[in-house]
Amino acid sequence: MKSTASAPGKVILLGEHFVVYGIEAVLCAIDRRITVETRTVGSGITILSGMGSARIEPGGSTDAALAPIAHIATEAVGEFGHGTGLEITVRSDIPPGVGLGSSSACCVAAAASITGVFAELSRDEILRRALEAERTVFGGASGADTAASTYGGAIRYSTAGGFDGLRVRDLELVVANSMQAHSTGEMVRIVGRFREENREEFDGLCARASELTGDALAALGRGDRAALGGAMSESQRMLEAIGVSNARLRRMTEVADRTGLGSKITGAGGGGCIIALADGPGQRRMQEDLQELGCECFTAGIDHAGLRVETAVSRGGYFI
Ligand code: PMV
Repeated sequence: MKSTASAPGKVILLGEHFVVYGIEAVLCAIDRRITVETRTVGSGITILSGMGSARIEPGGSTDAALAPIAHIATEAVGEFGHGTGLEITVRSDIPPGVGLGSSSACCVAAAASITGVFAELSRDEILRRALEAERTVFGGASGADTAASTYGGAIRYSTAGGFDGLRVRDLELVVANSMQAHSTGEMVRIVGRFREENREEFDGLCARASELTGDALAALGRGDRAALGGAMSESQRMLEAIGVSNARLRRMTEVADRTGLGSKITGAGGGGCIIALADGPGQRRMQEDLQELGCECFTAGIDHAGLRVETAVSRGGYFI
């Protein structure tokens, strides 16, 4: 039996870090995906991926990058397929560890693909399993990335209110990779320390972040790219203030702003990617300028599909 599923990466248009403290964030799934294929085999669980390969032993330890997949697989075998062996293959066109949601997309695609050889689960249930798996590595994950990856499109997300899909015209963003890997957990800890030491300032920034989310939602609704770019650039200044930018990311946003409408870190910061908005000829120029800084650059559009189950599964003679 074989089951294949894929899920998109994401960018955070506004609200990273503040979302951990209850502020609403705005995210978009992007048109880059991770695909996971699961086959049932005689025995044991094997994971084959560009991040490394491993045979999962009961009670054994697993490399952090593969731990969420191992978690999903052992839970699924325990629940549905006692003793069934699984061979899980992961393919990705999302650069890992740079704020584009590769780990969340991997958890979503893995949850759908692995459980898909045993049962047909709802998207909500796939999302629940994916987030549980992600939290085995980073307990503080807000769930924003996994929601965007599961449902696709543009969403507003808060930890208290969950997510809501947004009606958004197509949006093309320039993504530039600083080529510096980052650790989301470490950056979230840095912000936690900043908050402890600067409580009043942080509360003020949260209030402003919440207003900015409102401004961005209105701009997205009107298709007002200049206003959205302005909100993104103000968000960047706030991310600078809480200590998640660095000299390289700052330089990248300055260069992008020469030809664009606005730019900011996307994701945890401390490295990773920036996103920028530009119009027509400005977009090509911006990419050239960022490439000159040694960045890997590409344009990303919105992925509207979210989780996709790619192949029908043959179970007991029926194709479902
Ligand atoms: O893992 P990244 O780089 O996409 O960052 C996640 C966004 C944070 O707000 C920093 C953390 C979270 O769980 O929302």
